[in-house]
Amino acid sequence: MRTTTGIDLETVKAVYAGPERSLWELIMGEQIHVGGLESSMALADAAGISPGSRGVDLCCCTGAGMRFLLRFRGVAHMTGVDATAEVLDIGRQRSNDDGCSAQIQFILADACQTRLDDACADFVWGEDAWCYVADKPRLICEAVRLVRPGGTVAFTDWVAGDVPMNDAEAERFLRFMKFPTFAARAEYAQLLENAGLRVERAEDTGRFPACIELYVSAASGQFGFDVSRLLGFDSALVNALGQEMRHMQALVHARKVVQAMYIARKPGALRRGEQP
Ligand SMILES: C[S@@+](CC[C@H](N)C(=O)[O-])C[C@H]1O[C@@H](n2cnc3c(N)ncnc32)[C@H](O)[C@@H]1O
Repeated sequence: MRTTTGIDLETVKAVYAGPERSLWELIMGEQIHVGGLESSMALADAAGISPGSRGVDLCCCTGAGMRFLLRFRGVAHMTGVDATAEVLDIGRQRSNDDGCSAQIQFILADACQTRLDDACADFVWGEDAWCYVADKPRLICEAVRLVRPGGTVAFTDWVAGDVPMNDAEAERFLRFMKFPTFAARAEYAQLLENAGLRVERAEDTGRFPACIELYVSAASGQFGFDVSRLLGFDSALVNALGQEMRHMQALVHARKVVQAMYIARKPGALRRGEQP
């Protein structure tokens, strides 16, 4: 597990409370994760998310993933946990606008310490967000605590690929992204197993290389003006962003940074009609 000094939850909250979140939404869409809807569909399919089930989204941001689960998978109820008050306000408004606010509860909390009840969820969900959480062992333990016996922990995340970054590459990338720690693909699988889950999938989705092309080209081309406006028309900042995006692009193409998908089951009773 790599660690970056000087980046903590307050640093991350400042990102998501301000223009950086708008920047990521501009180039990635309302779902701020690699692969958008396609990735959510694949995660839900692999997890076997069933209609009528109840889930918890850890680091839900504005709740786009939860609205996806209600609309496309018939999930009955979602509880979203995020540490940034500003994204929850936006999420409540968007859920209201979508007419699904009765089925979504937003909670302001650290995902490592949600204070939700033990075994309250059929599944725990996360999409490209746990990379921002410093204490990954604690986060995984919290996810496992929340899921009921027989339930599922399903998430995607940015992780170190099987081709290693050198220290300088990692330092530059993690500082740009404001990731306090960064897991290797196999490390999450180990944490899930240590917490008593059976890991079914822990794989590179292969989705990042095509998506990074979209982000780099959108930021410098089609949305160049909008990006510049979000950065206060500061040309030095705009140039720096371009350089850091291209550095990330190189890491992604070298398979040093990948999006990985994890599906893990908690041992215990299945519900009627569920497949083992
Ligand atoms: C990339 S966004 C999540 C994107 C979202 N899953 C989606 O697919 O649209 C990352 C979110 O993680 C939240 N976050 C980071 N660290 C956190 C923590 N320790 N506890 C709760 N939320 C956290 C941030 O506030 C931010 O809203």
